[in-house]
Amino acid sequence: MCGIIGYIGNKQATPFLLQGLRRLEYRGYDSAGMVVIDNTNFNCIKSVGKIDKLAEKLKQTKFTGNIGIAHTRWATHGGVTIENAHPHFSADGSIVLVHNGIIENYRELKDFLGNIEYKSETDSEILVNLIAHFYKGDLRIAVESALLKVRGTYGIVVMHKDKTDCLVAARMGSPLVIGVGEGEYYLASDATPLLAHTNKVVFLEDGEIAEVCRNSIQTYNLKDEQIVKCVEQIDWNDEQAEKQGYENFMLKEIYDQPTVYKDAIRGRINLDEATAHLGGLNMTPEQMKKVDRIILIACGTASYAAMVGKYAFERLAGIPTEVDVASEFRYRDPIITENTLVFGVSQSGETADTIAALREAKRKGAYVRGIVNVVGSTIARETDGGTYIHAGPELAVASTKAYTNMSAILLLYALQFGRSRRLSIATGERICKALLEIPEKMQSILDNADAIKEIALKYKDYKNCFFLGRGSNYPVAREGSLKLKEISYIHSESYPGGEMKHGPIALLSDDFPVIAIMTKNQLYDKMWNNIQEVKARNSKVLIIATIGDEKVKDLADDVIYVPDTMELLEPLLNTLPLQLLAYYIAVALGRDVDRPRNLAKSVTVE
Ligand code: AGP
Repeated sequence: MCGIIGYIGNKQATPFLLQGLRRLEYRGYDSAGMVVIDNTNFNCIKSVGKIDKLAEKLKQTKFTGNIGIAHTRWATHGGVTIENAHPHFSADGSIVLVHNGIIENYRELKDFLGNIEYKSETDSEILVNLIAHFYKGDLRIAVESALLKVRGTYGIVVMHKDKTDCLVAARMGSPLVIGVGEGEYYLASDATPLLAHTNKVVFLEDGEIAEVCRNSIQTYNLKDEQIVKCVEQIDWNDEQAEKQGYENFMLKEIYDQPTVYKDAIRGRINLDEATAHLGGLNMTPEQMKKVDRIILIACGTASYAAMVGKYAFERLAGIPTEVDVASEFRYRDPIITENTLVFGVSQSGETADTIAALREAKRKGAYVRGIVNVVGSTIARETDGGTYIHAGPELAVASTKAYTNMSAILLLYALQFGRSRRLSIATGERICKALLEIPEKMQSILDNADAIKEIALKYKDYKNCFFLGRGSNYPVAREGSLKLKEISYIHSESYPGGEMKHGPIALLSDDFPVIAIMTKNQLYDKMWNNIQEVKARNSKVLIIATIGDEKVKDLADDVIYVPDTMELLEPLLNTLPLQLLAYYIAVALGRDVDRPRNLAKSVTVE
């Protein structure tokens, strides 16, 4: 949450800073601000609301300088006001900072600093004053001294008005990437703003401070010891982070799915041996055989992808598997043995709850592996192995293609574990073939978007709805419901079809529709009965059904057809019409689908 960005070099800083803020806007969009140094003067501009507002203000002012920092905010401490917008200055006006994270002991630090007149209600302003307190001519040392007193999380970039050839950056729990250019450096909360300029990056680790000057970069730890960092190469390109003619990122990312799914499975399916091979697992065959429990840790959409994995691990490999919402896992003293395998599933790889839970699992001795999209992210680096999902940059706040690719990778892992245990070659082969057929089937769903749009318009004015599914379609119901609520703001809940009669059915009436995922699988007849119970309460019913199922029209007011596949793989297809449904409803209601209210893409606070 919150995006920070910085530039030092020979060019004007503003164009990169502004473009970078736009790229990072998914991380928060309550307010934004920018500071550049012109000679030894700070030029500062701030606005409340989305980046466009800041861009408007920038047009009306001269804003020059080739060193600068900027910030897009997702409010934690203090309301959404100009005063609380970053960058924040020290009281004497000499130091300025952008901060992503939360300073937990801010009250203590405020007392320590004594009588200072603060302009904002933020913990960040206390931090910049703390840095100023320690400043004796060396900005890096001042930052280091201040951070030694701080408890909490931060990604910061700091400037001093008399030091016009250096920035200081530091990280603890909030991501920070430094892009290496020719005689220039770019700093950002993630690599996407850098892609147009360089693919050489340095990932700062927790507890590291970088002094970034025009021609050099030096990194230290909090003990003031210098550290040698590797410059890494990232293979995402700028084009992947563009809308490519789509109206917004969410639609583009929905349509990316057939392509990026192929990227996820490429080279990972071995048809000859009817298995999958995910080298990053980093476990010997003996260690794999001993695994007697799997825990999948994730939040939100990633946790619904994890549910897809749970069903597959249990069915194919016979390994008891749990899905744990990260924020719950950590605080309930989970039972972990040396044969427990824990996967952290995360698009960003920076979700604070997931990171904390994985650290706890590691402390307790589990094998901890990551299933992550963002290359070089914290989870990718802190786990002892795992797999990139290769979804490419996902910039819409609502996750779509990452869900699909996480599910795909978990299915591959389940196949790999299954084949190393009890799963027959015949079943393995069927699964491999079915996995390879998925992209074409996805495309056929996307090609039916106009029909889905028409249905969306019929459902857009309801205030409530239920999503129901059973077995493999239960995670689909959960994800469909989350998508709808987060981008359209329509209240929706999801239940296993069989749960309705235990309470939720009381809510049904003719203005409370039900969306049922009811493809032809072993639970089809059970779902049929559940939906009949719904019909008896006069609710309108939209059914996601298998192509060729004509009978379902007796039950449904509307039907969206999807191609058939193996039951465990159904979420890879059945989720797509629900993504489109949510999308078209949200657009019809005039919502900002890429940046829904109150949300941020990367939730780096607990
Ligand atoms: C998805 O649409 C949500 N915005 C959200 O639930 C998200 O999936 C969750 O915050 C987890 O993020 P991660 O995958 O980056 O860890």
